[in-house]
Amino acid sequence: MAIKTVGVLGCGLMGSGIAQVSAAAGYRTIVREVSDTFLQKGLGRISKFLDDGVAKGKVTAADRDTTLANLSGTTSFDALADCDLVIEAVVENLAEKTATYASLERVVKPHTIFLSNTSSLCITELAAATKRPDRFGGLHFFNPVPIMKLVEVIRALTTSDETYQTVFQFAQSLGKEPITAPDRPGFIVNRLLVPYLLDAIRAYENGLGTLEDIDKGMKLGCGYPMGPFTLLDFVGLDTTYYIANIMFEEFREPAYAPPPLLKRMVLAGRLGRKSGQGFYKY
Ligand code: 3HC
Repeated sequence: MAIKTVGVLGCGLMGSGIAQVSAAAGYRTIVREVSDTFLQKGLGRISKFLDDGVAKGKVTAADRDTTLANLSGTTSFDALADCDLVIEAVVENLAEKTATYASLERVVKPHTIFLSNTSSLCITELAAATKRPDRFGGLHFFNPVPIMKLVEVIRALTTSDETYQTVFQFAQSLGKEPITAPDRPGFIVNRLLVPYLLDAIRAYENGLGTLEDIDKGMKLGCGYPMGPFTLLDFVGLDTTYYIANIMFEEFREPAYAPPPLLKRMVLAGRLGRKSGQGFYKY
């Protein structure tokens, strides 16, 4: 199936990155937010990233202009009527996501593929909440979306072969390296990453070392781009806590149980970079 027009639901950190890479790949891209304030903030993030890219010599001024010309923002669902494929990146809440799909289904064409960027919810459950469970799948991006090469393509039990092939090829056309992940909590990457991050918190609570030394150890000793606490602050402690709870609920294995310190930091509003304080202050 030929994809020409792409819709993105949500213009937050992930949605804006997804809209940017879609527009940069040449798709007419329409990104929807719930309010003009959120929309302008998200579009501003895209412009800034592209301007910084030009300043760094990573993006040409012409490519920046083409990307921005391919991109438009809206607060209505009607503007998404012509989309061949829509990627949802709204808040990680089942009710919010399914309500969004219901609004979308009222305006799009029968062939339109729906994809969710969820990092934790069950793709089969999301697909079942729509009238197109065969044209539904997961497309999980990594933060920062324009830089990270990986995307996970997740098949719901109901995803058709044709949809899966189209989505995999679409991911490649974005300049990403797709991998196929199962519809199980954490897919592939978070299934391995989250227990590692939780273990780092437990080890820190047990006095293994300072935050700085543990981070330095993993960064310089293993070549990771960020140590676990820098990465936790980057991903967001609330996001990590949310994913860990879903994984623990499903697998019932201690490795996925969120440590008490993580819960307390979330309750205290120390969510990482986005709130100005997590394990470190920003
Ligand atoms: N435009 C174009 N390119 C840009 C750019 C811009 N505005 N800004 C930066 N870049 C390029 C840089 O030029 C550089 O490219 P190069 O490697 O070819 O030289 C590359 O992007 C890295 O950028 P920086 O030099 O500015 O920054 P760092 O080297 O410090 O890297 C980082 C930053 C990419 C965030 C790195 O620290 C990293 O990879 N951290 C780990 C991130 C990670 O693990 N993300 C996944 C989180 S889990 C997740 O998202 C899943 C969810 O479900 C929880």
